[in-house]
Amino acid sequence: MRNSFSGVLILLALVFQVDGKALTDASLAEVSPAQDPTGSAAVNSPILQNAPSSGKKGLTFVKEAHLVDFGIDLVGCRNWSDPNGMNCDAYVGDTDCNQLRPVLCAKVDNTPRPAYVVPPTTGVMTPAYYAGWNLGHITTTVPVKGSQFYNRAAVDDYCAQSFGVGWRVALFDDGFFISGMNLTTYSGSAWTQNAKNQQRGGWHFYSYGDVRNDIRFWVHIRDQPSTCWQQ
Ligand SMILES: *[C@@H]1O[C@H](CO)[C@@H](O)[C@H](O)[C@H]1NC(C)=O
Ligand SMILES: *[C@@H]1O[C@H](CO)[C@@H](O)[C@H](O)[C@H]1NC(C)=O
Repeated sequence: MRNSFSGVLILLALVFQVDGKALTDASLAEVSPAQDPTGSAAVNSPILQNAPSSGKKGLTFVKEAHLVDFGIDLVGCRNWSDPNGMNCDAYVGDTDCNQLRPVLCAKVDNTPRPAYVVPPTTGVMTPAYYAGWNLGHITTTVPVKGSQFYNRAAVDDYCAQSFGVGWRVALFDDGFFISGMNLTTYSGSAWTQNAKNQQRGGWHFYSYGDVRNDIRFWVHIRDQPSTCWQQ
């Protein structure tokens, strides 16, 4: 009797641990990837899914916009203006790891947020969460198989080898936001002065850069099995 009672307690403890883990993952717990809240209906394109499958899939982002005035890109889960566009899948990956895709690389230098518009969204999180600033630059490598990388460090190395010291693989949650930011609110020096209020967003982010828009690119996500490589 006593043994089975402690067994139940252990089981309960495990359940709470799993719950706690899921809840600390705020970027993912709040929204489902099939319903990326910043856009409309999901349409999956077959165009990029025609090579032999390895079974394993990796997470990819796509260029969504370039804002000429600021020299910045918006990259993320899906180009919502493209009726043939596909969603990313942050949980199990969206693109076969044996496909050739560029790696999205980032270099963070703490450059302040430019005064871009934060688009209104209907997501669970505040709109700024989906419009974070990555505090630096992005660029893309030549297309490579996601399966060629052993772990995140190997992808980081590949970015550094391609572009120099300080470049590393871009993250799903590379965008930082300050609640209420929009246009000049929390841009420039006001961004830097309020550094303590910066939080990580997810699904999309803005960055200096002008990357290609003809193909999706590999990105890294922490604490999820949706990368072609180990954490
Ligand atoms: C997004 O898709 C639309 C519609 O196909 C296209 O006009 C636009 O150029 C795309 N955006 C980017 C950044 O490629
Ligand atoms: C940001 O400002 C623009 C321009 O005033 C406005 O259209 C947009 O709705 C604002 N974004 C949010 C999230 O309120």
